Amino acid sequence: MAGLRALSLLFLLLVSVTVLPLASSTGGDYERCEGAVRGWADSAAETDNGGDDKLNLKDLLFFLHIPRTGGRTYFHCFLKQLYSNAQECPRSYDKLRFDPSHPDCKLVVSHDDYSLTSKLPRERTSVVTILRNPVDRVFSAYEFSIEVAARFLVHPNITSAKLMTSRMLTKSRARAVSTLDIWPWKYLVPWMREDLFTRRDVRGIDKTQSSKKVNAYDVEDMVMPLHQYINDPVAHEIIHNGATFQITGLTNNSYFDGAHEVRHCVRRHPDLGRFVLQVAKNRLDRMLYVGLTEDHEESARLFAHMVGAQVLSQSGTLNLDIKEDPPVGIDSHSSMLDPEDEEANEHMNSTHGWKNNEALNATEDDHGNGNMTVAKLMETYESCIAKLRKTQSCRRKISLKKVEEANFTKEARRQVPEAILKQIISLNSLDMELYEHAKNIFRQEHLMLRGQRPMVVQHTQLAGQKGWIHTVCESWSCSPWKVATFGLGITATIIFVAFTVTTRRTLKLKV
Ligand SMILES: *[C@@H]1O[C@H](CO)[C@@H](O)[C@H](O)[C@H]1NC(C)=O
Ligand SMILES: *[C@@H]1O[C@H](CO)[C@@H](O)[C@H](O)[C@H]1NC(C)=O
Ligand SMILES: *[C@@H]1O[C@H](CO)[C@@H](O)[C@H](O)[C@H]1NC(C)=O
Ligand SMILES: *[C@@H]1O[C@H](CO)[C@@H](O)[C@H](O)[C@H]1NC(C)=O
Ligand SMILES: *[C@@H]1O[C@H](CO)[C@@H](O)[C@H](O)[C@H]1NC(C)=O
Ligand SMILES: *[C@@H]1O[C@H](CO)[C@@H](O)[C@H](O)[C@H]1NC(C)=O
Repeated sequence: MAGLRALSLLFLLLVSVTVLPLASSTGGDYERCEGAVRGWADSAAETDNGGDDKLNLKDLLFFLHIPRTGGRTYFHCFLKQLYSNAQECPRSYDKLRFDPSHPDCKLVVSHDDYSLTSKLPRERTSVVTILRNPVDRVFSAYEFSIEVAARFLVHPNITSAKLMTSRMLTKSRARAVSTLDIWPWKYLVPWMREDLFTRRDVRGIDKTQSSKKVNAYDVEDMVMPLHQYINDPVAHEIIHNGATFQITGLTNNSYFDGAHEVRHCVRRHPDLGRFVLQVAKNRLDRMLYVGLTEDHEESARLFAHMVGAQVLSQSGTLNLDIKEDPPVGIDSHSSMLDPEDEEANEHMNSTHGWKNNEALNATEDDHGNGNMTVAKLMETYESCIAKLRKTQSCRRKISLKKVEEANFTKEARRQVPEAILKQIISLNSLDMELYEHAKNIFRQEHLMLRGQRPMVVQHTQLAGQKGWIHTVCESWSCSPWKVATFGLGITATIIFVAFTVTTRRTLKLKV
């Protein structure tokens, strides 16, 4: 018995001797990281405090555009109708030359992360964003990286592609931002372009493909397969948990110097992610509006009501400015061309570019007239988005023709092995949880708007038969406070009733 005990003691000793140094070396890093992450989270919580009137649109609207969430349709089809060019902060998407101090600046639309707010008047800024199912977002980022990079395949070799691009960029920099200028595409596209050319060189330009049925996400001799893409360090740095990092201001593109340490710490020690997630959830809670890519129609409707209506009601005074101040040309307003959609190499084919898009012309017309209503806003939005989708799918087809077998369709997605999907989910666990949170917020927004129905009834007589959306909006824009107060009233009543019921019960029990 004693021998056995001694033996187990010896064993324990051995184990601790071998394990301890390991534990202490990783433990040191863990502790350092925990300190860094906690410190950051505390200061973030501090700056996020205050300002409980989140439902009121403030002087400046910051559209935090998480890549591949469909933000550009909001930009072109909503915001462009609501704000004049002059009101859009110059070079929204262009970090190096972004200028929020511009006097008329009322709208910032950017892929820059939340740390951009450190450059903005925080108290006077409302933030809005759209979230998307993380798995779909990863797929979409993969497809878009390839789509844009494939446009360069018209060139005989990568040297020539790069040369043309840099020429094109210097030429266009004077007036517009290209996809290659903006984060994250400025990293993802050149990376993918390099890869496409390498693969083409290996198989030879003229080699025609066998048309065997293949999984579009695994066409190794044409493009980097999805499984390779998601495991690459670049994807780890830029794509995975991208929404969480963007909303917390911790991306690779952050204005905050400590961002890289915090981000890398969270990647090394996943359990520290809970601090980051908490900050992200808080921020989402405080946003004026949170949309969902999946629930597109309802998102658009809510956006029109929660944001559009307020912009319109505030622009009662702004309209004068617009009329006196003729729209400034593309020259000083980079985001006139949507960076995410702009021709990365213009010289290739401009027939499918933005220049011929009617949607943009319609926008200008609507600005001249100060009578835009939310109903009209939705109407213009619907037709704008239809055109936008057509243009986009057309360009996508043309691009992807160059990598023929990487024919990304919904069908093809279903062939992607379960194991890869599981891996994407686990690589994006923070985003998965944040997305669930966003869905809850979205539900609340939806309910809040529905809570407006009783008020609608009163308004209908005044507003004529314009449909409930329109009227809801009008009452909403009159005072978002009404809703808040209304909601508070209901909550207070419920709490009061619950309280009396429970006290009665306990009284009964005591008796
Ligand atoms: C790339 O293509 C250009 C244009 O055809 C050609 O002049 C150049 O020599 C090529 N460069 C290489 C490294 O093959
Ligand atoms: C951001 O990520 C890209 C791609 O991995 C990398 O090349 C770049 O240096 C990173 N930037 C910073 C500031 O870490
Ligand atoms: C440009 O687009 C037109 C019309 O779709 C097409 O006929 C032409 O071949 C394209 N040019 C290039 C260089 O891709
Ligand atoms: C848009 O406006 C431009 C110039 O104002 C014009 O040349 C172009 O034809 C218009 N496009 C459409 C589709 O109306
Ligand atoms: C705006 O509405 C007012 C009153 O409804 C109307 O008199 C005016 O003509 C309208 N203006 C435009 C540009 O439609
Ligand atoms: C891509 O797939 C769709 C549907 O499977 C098919 O109709 C289309 O012809 C394919 N395109 C190419 C270029 O292979």
